[in-house]
Amino acid sequence: MSGREDRCRTLSNGIFVCEQGTGVPLVLLHGFSLDHHMWQYQIEELSAKYRVIAIDVPGFGKSPLKHASITLSEVAGDIMSAIDEMLPQQQCVVMGLSMGGYIAWELLSRYPERFLAAVMCDTRAAADSAEAASVRRQMADRVLQGGTEGVIAPMLYRLLAPKTLEHAPNVVKSMKEMLYATAPLTIAAFQLAMADRHDFHPELSRFTLPTLLIVGMDDVLTPPAEMQRIQESLPDAEIVKIPEAGHMAPLEQPTLVNQAIDEFLSRKLGHLLL
Ligand code: MLT
Repeated sequence: MSGREDRCRTLSNGIFVCEQGTGVPLVLLHGFSLDHHMWQYQIEELSAKYRVIAIDVPGFGKSPLKHASITLSEVAGDIMSAIDEMLPQQQCVVMGLSMGGYIAWELLSRYPERFLAAVMCDTRAAADSAEAASVRRQMADRVLQGGTEGVIAPMLYRLLAPKTLEHAPNVVKSMKEMLYATAPLTIAAFQLAMADRHDFHPELSRFTLPTLLIVGMDDVLTPPAEMQRIQESLPDAEIVKIPEAGHMAPLEQPTLVNQAIDEFLSRKLGHLLL
């Protein structure tokens, strides 16, 4: 949030938030091992029309980890308290990328009356397979024993599209700064939490709010086919596939992503944006 850190603060439950703009609130939840800076272009551009609130999930950025055996359900409860403090009695749009999406499904499931619409970027609704969960548990052990480097370095190349890696050194730099800033204890705690997360896929028909799904066409972690499967199960969802973007579509192709979000919200919530 360049030059606007004055709009950042720590809430009473320790969660760190940055906000900019006025209007319908958009609450942004970042992906794993990242922080609110991954939304830098959404904060800068969408704040011209919306009240953009980017949260550091507890354990990441400037929000402390509560304890090592955290669950995504507990994280969602803490984020809802943060939303209550910032937006008492007010509805908002929730937007989550990947792990932020897993947390957003929890919020939508437990507090549906608080949300006007959802934007899910590069994420899944399904839980892990037994094999994927076991890989996460091994990663948790490795990071606690050997530290961050061996676990984080290979991630970068799976998060970004080949074009981004080659031509967008500023994005690569920003990703490295966020990835390497995360403590080993947080990495381990959230790998275990994600391994045990709830399977929302069979329940998608009850998420009736307008939902925009955004996915990078080069996303190898949550590929377009996976997001398409979510769209087919949701009652009111649209999907936008972003060219030359990987798992970090909002950071890799911000102009296309921001246009898609604004076009969708203007159509679905137009009466509130006047
Ligand atoms: C993320 O970007 O948040 C991760 O890919 C989530 C995950 O590991 O499932």
